[in-house]
Amino acid sequence: MTTPNRQIRRQLRALRPYVPGEQPKIKGLIKLNTNENPYPPSPRVLRAVRAAVDGRLRLYPNPTAERLRKKLARLHRCKPENIIVGNGSDELLAMAVRCFVEPGAANVIRRTARAFTSAATVQFFTPSYSLYPVLADIHGAVKNAVVLNPDFSLPAVLELKRGKRWDFKAALTFITTPNAPSGHGYLTRELDSLCKAQYGVVVLDEAYVDFANENAMKLALKYPHVLVARTFSKAYSLCFQRVGYFVGHPELIAALHKIRDSYNVNGLGQIAAEATLDDLAYYRANFKTIVATRAWLSRELTKLGFRVLPSQTNFILAQPPLFPAKAWLQKLRDRKILLRWFSAPEVKDYLRITIGTPREAAALVKAVQAIAA
Ligand SMILES: Cc1ncc(COP(=O)(O)O)c(C=O)c1O
Repeated sequence: MTTPNRQIRRQLRALRPYVPGEQPKIKGLIKLNTNENPYPPSPRVLRAVRAAVDGRLRLYPNPTAERLRKKLARLHRCKPENIIVGNGSDELLAMAVRCFVEPGAANVIRRTARAFTSAATVQFFTPSYSLYPVLADIHGAVKNAVVLNPDFSLPAVLELKRGKRWDFKAALTFITTPNAPSGHGYLTRELDSLCKAQYGVVVLDEAYVDFANENAMKLALKYPHVLVARTFSKAYSLCFQRVGYFVGHPELIAALHKIRDSYNVNGLGQIAAEATLDDLAYYRANFKTIVATRAWLSRELTKLGFRVLPSQTNFILAQPPLFPAKAWLQKLRDRKILLRWFSAPEVKDYLRITIGTPREAAALVKAVQAIAA
């Protein structure tokens, strides 16, 4: 008899899974660790969800989130055929790997087989969303992780061409824009140059774009190999409902639909997302408040000796004074404030701080003052 461990795919036995931020079980913590929105969904959204909780729960939801796709198409001035909705954007990121990257090749590839290597490659910058390498590993893909500039800006195409590490033919390239976890915003112009130079599919992951100065949606409608990923989780206060979407060329979108679970987006999620689009003014007011709180918190932490990086997201990355970042994490947790720390070498000296309400930001500043004293 074989042991259960041996029945698991060899590739997966040693897999290091994605580690989500803590969802604490104890009450009363100030939760600034997972980039959730501190404000609730709009009253209109809550009403729509409540009104849908009835006998209809026994039915399957619309398989392609048709009404939602129509509304999104109107918003982005494209067609419903340009859109696929997922169980959060995470599901779509995983589907993109399955759809565009040759599977299981990481173990068998020799570096000399260049074209084949590219067809099996998932490429991304570091630091960026730490889910990408995990998705590549699950698929047995070749990973090509290329470091961002030291200030987390994007290397120019010319520099990437000079360096040997970047693969312009990689089957799939993920770019988090604005970047996470640094918060650094990218210009559409520089993303355009990179997309133009790339042969494989490029996913521009705009999870935080509503807090940024510009977005790159137009590139998804300009280039047939570019997909833009958006989510209702962060800016639209709907993490709980799990709704995200891709915009891109109908052929890429149709290929993704082919591998989609039949009912991948739950019905209440579809209803909540549709109602969200009917109340965008509510959310735009929230973005403004969050951006103002971000500026305030950045200023206050800077006064206390933190090196705060400029951010175009609903979080900031800040290098604390006096103690290592990991020690600050614990000291603040002792004071009931949860932040996020990553062990990756480029960011291990920083704390990632989600922008909460002004009250939560003030509580954080007070706790920092007390610890520093
Ligand atoms: C860069 C980035 N992309 C995608 C996601 C996933 O969002 P969703 O809730 O839509 O799955 C996250 C969530 O943390 C993220 O940080």
